[in-house]
Amino acid sequence: MAFFLAIETSCDETAAAVFTDQYEVRSNVVASQTRWHAPFTGVVPEIAARAHLRQLLPVVDSALTEAGITLKDLSAVAVHHTPGLVGSLLVGVAAAKMLAAVLHIPLLAVNHVVSHVFACRLAAGRDIFPCVGLVVSGGHTVLLHCNSAQEMKVLGGTRDDAAGEAFDKVAALLGLGFPGGPAVEREAALGDPTAYDFPRAFADDGRLAFSFSGLKTAVLYACFGQNARRMDPPPPGPKRANLAASFQKAVIDVLVLKAKQALRQTGQRRLAVGGGVAANQAFRQALEAMCAREGVELFVPPRHLCTDNAAMAAGAVELWKQKLFAPLDLDAQPTWL
Ligand code: KG4
Ligand code: ZN
Repeated sequence: MAFFLAIETSCDETAAAVFTDQYEVRSNVVASQTRWHAPFTGVVPEIAARAHLRQLLPVVDSALTEAGITLKDLSAVAVHHTPGLVGSLLVGVAAAKMLAAVLHIPLLAVNHVVSHVFACRLAAGRDIFPCVGLVVSGGHTVLLHCNSAQEMKVLGGTRDDAAGEAFDKVAALLGLGFPGGPAVEREAALGDPTAYDFPRAFADDGRLAFSFSGLKTAVLYACFGQNARRMDPPPPGPKRANLAASFQKAVIDVLVLKAKQALRQTGQRRLAVGGGVAANQAFRQALEAMCAREGVELFVPPRHLCTDNAAMAAGAVELWKQKLFAPLDLDAQPTWL
């Protein structure tokens, strides 16, 4: 049996995992940086990079210990080298290259967005390809046509903010703190999703595109008025809950609509959804309802495989089987399109 170590440092989670060539996850360790970013209500790139530097080797050590193996047992080391915050990616890439060089084992370079789709394959325990992939995270909102873990064509994506970023910004506006997604979800559960009629970009046409910046501004105006000078967040109560619920509904409506359009346009019968926003329960329910109506098979990983982690890099096993090794001068790439 072959063992793989994977490293994830693309944003603000320092993560390492051990899996086998049979996609059996032996450990999946994630060290959060929330406490360092929370005072800024968002991820601060330099703080993230420095936190990875502090946390990564202890996290790798925990992943190996939990898996019951040592460095000598590894057949290859995989790393998410794109896309992400460059300073963050560099820490993971440098560590993975060093391990590959010292242990004389192959280095495998994995795309973080592709891994969010692969998390569905990992959780399902069986093949999910071909499928439409929808990745909805803090940095990405993208629809993919996936023939395999390696062959993915971009069908369309966001023209501005990612959906998760909109959740984080609206959470900050409403004074709900960081990380924003789970906080907005909790608040939305108390409110009326029809209270505000927020914009749903590209809803009236078949373009596979998203835009969330106008929605964000609409929430701002609904919260403070167009000429508001004071930007104090609204106090707890019906207004704040209704804003959260109506915002969340607007995001979910367009995500589900565009996924449906992508399925119809490609003729695919499987939908694989990943990324942090896929941890949202209301979103998962809306996806289930749409897929049931459309007769489409839905794959959504459990929450801990939706948010950033290293186990989802297990698509690296295929790269290893095909001997698609990365060179030791592998660089970090902040963008991938
Ligand atoms: O995939 P991820 O962990 O990191 C990136 O690759 O960006 O996604 C993080 C994003 C954040 O914007 C966070 O607010 C959002 O996912 N998120 C959620 C929920 N949990 C995390 N958004 C909505 N509802 C949630 N429950
Ligand atoms: Zn991610």
